[in-house]
Amino acid sequence: MKVGVFDSGIGGLTVVKSMLEHQLFEEIIYFGDTARVPYGIKDKNTIIRYAIEAVEFFKNFELDLIIVACNTVSAYALDEMRETSACPVIGVVEAGILATANSLKDKESNILILGTKATVNSKAYEIGLNKRGYNNLQAKATGLFVPLVEEEIFSGKILEATMEHYFKDVKKPDAIILGCTHFPLISERIENYFSKESVIIHSGDAIVEYLENEFEFTHQYDKPTLKFFASENPDALKAVAAKWLSI
Ligand code: SIN
Repeated sequence: MKVGVFDSGIGGLTVVKSMLEHQLFEEIIYFGDTARVPYGIKDKNTIIRYAIEAVEFFKNFELDLIIVACNTVSAYALDEMRETSACPVIGVVEAGILATANSLKDKESNILILGTKATVNSKAYEIGLNKRGYNNLQAKATGLFVPLVEEEIFSGKILEATMEHYFKDVKKPDAIILGCTHFPLISERIENYFSKESVIIHSGDAIVEYLENEFEFTHQYDKPTLKFFASENPDALKAVAAKWLSI
């Protein structure tokens, strides 16, 4: 299976990492819209326009599937992408909601949803979780984590201060949804902040769980073909991919 992975920037590489660990795909084509990241501060129409442009970009590759690694795009633009795409389009929000429901049997569990301003404002996670009977939710827009991760700041004083700024009034959660592709890179710090007592929902693992339920994978690919594209400075994206994915 030949799959395209779309993200606003480099954060979607965390989803590619999970996909590589599970060896599901023969070929992975990654497109990061690095010229226009972050998407999480943009309005709905802009996010939809950028997402449709990504579908156009992927038309050059005759894909079997597009995975939207960006939570912001998954929250706003999946329907529009599906209308213009020749192949199925799957987003991480739906996968994250299912993974949360699979991990938390107690419907009273307190779930903290982290995401960009756009993702949190969309209420996409809340609506999906409410439908499954989870109503004890806290949602927090933590958009400053995105540029920190893009700057490869994964620990230290700036990150600690940013977490304190965002989390000081948050009730200790039973589960934390990392509702942004960038957040898995600081997930250990976030877990530590809440004394490692919360279940963590990671978009990459969630999408793999979702795909394994939806599709029949008959082969494992330990050396898939990987191609990386970016709308700005593709060499920088490739360098980060080499480091994060150990390729
Ligand atoms: C962003 O582009 O602001 C973050 C990506 C995401 O929402 O996953």
